[in-house]
Amino acid sequence: MIHPETIDKIMDATRIEEVVGEFVNLKKRGVNLIGLCPFHNEKTPSFTVSPPKGIYKCFGCGKGGNAVNFLMDQEHFSYPEALKYLAAKYNIEVEEEKPTPEQQQALDEKESLFNLNAFAQKYFQEQLHQNEEGKAIGLSYLKERGFSLEVIQKFGLGYCLNKWDEFSRHAQKNGYKKEYLVKTSLSKSKDQQLYDTFRGRIMFPIHNLSGRVLGFGGRIMTSEKNKPKYINSAESEIYHKSKALYGLFFAKSAVASSDNCYLVEGYTDVISLFQAGIENVIATSGTALSTDQIRLIRRYTSNVTLLFDGDAAGLKAAFRGIDLILEEGLNVRVVIFPEGEDPDSFAQSKRPLEVKEFIESNARDFISLKTDLLLEETSNDPIKKAGLIKEIAQTISLIPDPIARTLYVQKCSDTMQVDEKLLFAEINKMRRKNFQQKRKQTHAETDEHAWVNAEEGIAEKQTPLPLEENFQEIEIIRILLKYGSEELTLEVENEDKRMEEIIVRVMDFIVDDLEEDKITFENEACREIFTYFLTARQNQSLPDEQVFFQHESENIRKLAIDLLTTPYSLSDNWEERHRIYVKKENENLRENVYRVLYAFKLKKLEKMIGENQEKIKKADNDEELMPLLENERNLKNTRSRFAKELDRVVTK
Ligand code: CTP
Ligand code: MN
Repeated sequence: MIHPETIDKIMDATRIEEVVGEFVNLKKRGVNLIGLCPFHNEKTPSFTVSPPKGIYKCFGCGKGGNAVNFLMDQEHFSYPEALKYLAAKYNIEVEEEKPTPEQQQALDEKESLFNLNAFAQKYFQEQLHQNEEGKAIGLSYLKERGFSLEVIQKFGLGYCLNKWDEFSRHAQKNGYKKEYLVKTSLSKSKDQQLYDTFRGRIMFPIHNLSGRVLGFGGRIMTSEKNKPKYINSAESEIYHKSKALYGLFFAKSAVASSDNCYLVEGYTDVISLFQAGIENVIATSGTALSTDQIRLIRRYTSNVTLLFDGDAAGLKAAFRGIDLILEEGLNVRVVIFPEGEDPDSFAQSKRPLEVKEFIESNARDFISLKTDLLLEETSNDPIKKAGLIKEIAQTISLIPDPIARTLYVQKCSDTMQVDEKLLFAEINKMRRKNFQQKRKQTHAETDEHAWVNAEEGIAEKQTPLPLEENFQEIEIIRILLKYGSEELTLEVENEDKRMEEIIVRVMDFIVDDLEEDKITFENEACREIFTYFLTARQNQSLPDEQVFFQHESENIRKLAIDLLTTPYSLSDNWEERHRIYVKKENENLRENVYRVLYAFKLKKLEKMIGENQEKIKKADNDEELMPLLENERNLKNTRSRFAKELDRVVTK
């Protein structure tokens, strides 16, 4: 249990842009910040963060909320976990009791695995720096390879003693269950006995985006041929290899600020480059990049530079994988290191400045490089050259951006000395084929849209708020939320039948008016929000918008956030449909309040008239019919009075 006062403290300290900024590369846009939505796949940013309101909102997928909601969605935290994360971030002390064994058990499995990994990471790190074997074998090895204590600490490297079950026993003594030791693959089980998976290995912890340990890579210290150089944690509830990227936790802010990401193969490459001052570097851990990983990178930058060991074979083997990166709309550049060098050895043998200079001056655009490499092989053989053209066309066809495609066509047709038109024709053929394949493969709406839009070269469409049946009442709520505290000058008739100017708060005016006509809301969230205004009206106060943003009801939270963040106002749509020109809403607040209020009341009246007419149809004697007809006349009178009043206010 976290004390409510502490929760308040946490919420007060929290800056939404700092929290979201850990996961999404945000750019300033007016008072707001925008970026690529982490919750759905998009190429043009529709994810908006409002620092003054403390909320985020994606206009693409509709997700929205405050910092806590963000963490719950993004990190799959529970509510208390999200609060604790924020408390740690803002140095707020949370009075916490040690969990009882029962509570420990109740912690969900994921949490247990994370806890165990954190425990193991700390333990291995201690062994590396304090244990005799750890120091003599692990630490000395790392130092010999040129790693500074600073990076060794930063990346949380450790050492697992070369003893049969030292760690497994130590963990169990500390209350960690056998089951989880096996699930994290820290231990293996044989005849009911546990033994250590990573015996005698240097431990590289693999972190998620918030710095929690997902798993480990363990490097062997000896050169035994029959043992693998690395052992890695197996897939688990918390570790999905295709969704993790080694080093991204440490690199993400540098990736965002430099708008580029260096991609290497190995743990040691990352650490050596980092030590040389190149901090925007991550590793795939020796596997081809998955689509999920590419999308992870794309949250921070759309530029990737692949760093390859000094042999062309490695690069050619990577061609297909690189196509996947292009397909996701990223720009790909490639650096090939001198023969026999990998990023790690190169960085260790040169001064930091030289490393930087080498990488920057040797980075080449992937498609041009590929064209050159393949062209060398064709040696004017026409058949080989036809194959080359197809190959390059296939790669270019994957690029979603039509302008980029055109630029590549110009460049490559020049290099290969083929007609641009021919290359274009080939590319278009392939795009059609790709598109059809895609369509067959997936019926997922979103994917197809992304493709169709890419095809037409237009930005992904933003989904406006649905025009619901109840949009008039939603409009009332929007005006209340947005302009409730503002003041209106109204002309009213006083007791002497003379016109008099009064000043009234928007929310008081609307609440009183609706109360007087006894008008109720159909939509539940609207109805609930309205009750807050009713109470506030009675107390002469104003509901704090945070009450809605933090509301326990998702519908209320969502409605409030939608209404306060959407760039489209529903009345804009409404006005457009009715071809009425409106000045900007707040410049013309009085008219707009009237308009929205009357639109709502008219809609209500229409509904009542309709219901009454149904009754008229069903009535079978005069006695029943007369009051219904009377009612209809009244309703219609009111309707025309409303319409006239509205007309008077609006056309004045
Ligand atoms: N790898 C692995 N299992 C292996 C070999 C390699 O998982 N048996 C992964 C590791 O993530 C490794 C990456 O592939 O970091 C690159 O392999 P390699 O270049 O062989 O290792 P380095 O990281 O360069 O390690 P070192 O420099 O210590 O040789
Ligand atoms: Mn290496």
